[in-house]
Amino acid sequence: MIKYNFKGKNVIITGGSMGLGKATATEFARAGATIILADINKEEMDNTSRELQREFNVKVLEYIVDVSNYNEVESMVSSVYKKLGRVDILINNAGICKTLPLEDTTKTDLDKMIKVNLNGTFYFCKCVLPIMKKQRYGKVVNLSSIAAKLGSANASVYSATKAGVLELTACLAREYAEYDVNINCVLPGIIRTPLWNQMLVEMTEENHANKDAVFKSYTDTIPMKRPQEPVDIANAILFLCTDEASNITFFIKYYLTGFLISSISPNLS
Ligand SMILES: NC(=O)c1ccc[n+]([C@@H]2O[C@H](COP(=O)([O-])OP(=O)(O)OC[C@H]3O[C@@H](n4cnc5c(N)ncnc54)[C@H](O)[C@@H]3O)[C@@H](O)[C@H]2O)c1
Repeated sequence: MIKYNFKGKNVIITGGSMGLGKATATEFARAGATIILADINKEEMDNTSRELQREFNVKVLEYIVDVSNYNEVESMVSSVYKKLGRVDILINNAGICKTLPLEDTTKTDLDKMIKVNLNGTFYFCKCVLPIMKKQRYGKVVNLSSIAAKLGSANASVYSATKAGVLELTACLAREYAEYDVNINCVLPGIIRTPLWNQMLVEMTEENHANKDAVFKSYTDTIPMKRPQEPVDIANAILFLCTDEASNITFFIKYYLTGFLISSISPNLS
């Protein structure tokens, strides 16, 4: 296990109650950070918060926030700043996914995916980055997806939102480099979180297919023949937030291959 130390750092994690967000919150808590959860699911957020406090004895703040609602995001960030005086790290993790052909995707689902995945990331960046600029210190990690690079059938909306997150990261990395704010993106592949479990329900309900078999058909395309685990993604995120990674901004990781191909954008200034 990599031993990170984030004592004294305040970390906002959107969608931190479940899945990759929870794994990331757990690793930051293990490393001593103060955790600020922003989620719409109060019950799961309460459970996660209790677990983290019990296991790691860290401070955890909970905010019920829909990342796609600008007013809620703005008032949360201003409350965190008033209470803690700093925001050191922002993990834009909250996201939703429905995979269907575009013509079968309802307008409601289409708009919601764009609002949560893309607008939500914009809103948190817009509200938190001025604080980090003033501090001349900050780390942002946005959750894109391998879907941003694949051009998969039946995933146009989700993939486009994640490609948007990728490009947003690249632009902001350039905008904030001179203020010593590092802005990076990870592109996870396939991890069996509640998000994937829900997708498997939707994929199998009509033809009564076996969920494990369907999931395996996806992970079989990975050279290592196994999915990533939430902690794999959490560890990459934590590394990008260390001071050892302070010269890395807009670092892309492709996980689909099961091992890491990385590209660092040169000449960001
Ligand atoms: N699981 C994967 O295989 C995978 C692959 C690539 C990218 N990702 C991305 O990683 C991120 C996390 O995915 P996951 O698999 O852990 O998902 P998940 O569904 O397991 O967890 C998502 C969390 O976000 C919260 N959330 C959803 N909508 C919200 C909103 N409007 N406002 C605030 N919180 C909200 C949920 O309550 C939940 O706690 C997402 O952005 C997803 O697109 C996941």
